[in-house]
Amino acid sequence: MAATTHHHLSHASSLPKTLNHPLKQNPFSQLPVLSLRASKNLFRRQSLSLRAVLSQNPAKTLNATFQHCFTKSPDGFLYCEDTKVHPYVATGNKNSKFGIRNEKLQWFLDAVKAHPNELKLVGAHCHLGSTITKVDIFRDAAVLMVNYIDEIRAQGFEVDYLNIGGGLGIDYYHSGAVLPTPRDLIDTVRELVLSRNLNLVIEPGRSLIANTCCLVNRVTGVKTNGTKNFIVIDGSMAELIRPSLYDAYQHIELVSPTPPDAEVSTFDVVGPVCESADFLGKERELPTPAKGTGLVVHDAGAYCMSMASTYNLKMRPPEYWVEEDGSVTRIRHGETFEDHIRFFEGL
Ligand SMILES: Cc1ncc(COP(=O)(O)O)c(C=O)c1O
Repeated sequence: MAATTHHHLSHASSLPKTLNHPLKQNPFSQLPVLSLRASKNLFRRQSLSLRAVLSQNPAKTLNATFQHCFTKSPDGFLYCEDTKVHPYVATGNKNSKFGIRNEKLQWFLDAVKAHPNELKLVGAHCHLGSTITKVDIFRDAAVLMVNYIDEIRAQGFEVDYLNIGGGLGIDYYHSGAVLPTPRDLIDTVRELVLSRNLNLVIEPGRSLIANTCCLVNRVTGVKTNGTKNFIVIDGSMAELIRPSLYDAYQHIELVSPTPPDAEVSTFDVVGPVCESADFLGKERELPTPAKGTGLVVHDAGAYCMSMASTYNLKMRPPEYWVEEDGSVTRIRHGETFEDHIRFFEGL
């Protein structure tokens, strides 16, 4: 497992407690499907191929019943009602920038037909959104997609791949919720995929790696303004933007021992960046920490370092690999001001 850290905490041995998802081998090798990487190779091999990305629309689907988070609107589109899906991570909606609208399917197929030497349609791809907690909707989507594929095949295309995307959620709240795994996703669509003799591609990201990492911080102070208590830390929205961007919950724990008589209060956990949006947690019940206390933000293995920035001249932190025995190895250097300045030299 890896940890992104500002300082090497001497309490690292307490970290593995909730970090229970070590990736000792490539997880894709355990999945009986083509990985994203494999599909890239595929496209490299078949240099004339095209990834067809089709939006879902039940208007074209016969006998489909949708009982889960998606509902069908009067204009025939799917709307996701799962309140856990923030609008910024919902991708399959009517006005989304992604994919190709169903009424453009024929236009799209005609365009492919018009370029037989340049384009080869090999599959259909959809991605429903992120932090999805039920796999049933993937079955709903697969029903739509195989019906599209039937339609596409009926026009003479040899379509071999269905890519059902990613987007499985994880237990960000650490409530003990058992959420579907990539295996559950495969099992949900297996029969349908086999019934059309298709190869299945899935693209789980977060559900494979999110809980392998945490962002390690130090408390720089505690303050009260108005009626709010704040724990101020050295980490910020620059290193982990999900709370600011999506109002996302990420579990927070103090990792240094606090005195047994430390008062428990409700805090917003905030960084030093000059934005009111710079928070990593809101309304958290925590013992009042002393300056220098270690504080971890869990589940930073996906969409943390990859989205990190140098906003407010906060250099990106180093990354460490933590073995199960607690030993720690640095796997990425922290950025320095000199690194940053280098981009402006010799111009
Ligand atoms: C097309 C596509 N596939 C897969 C993913 C991975 O999603 P997640 O990490 O939530 O599984 C994304 C994320 O935005 C995506 O856009």
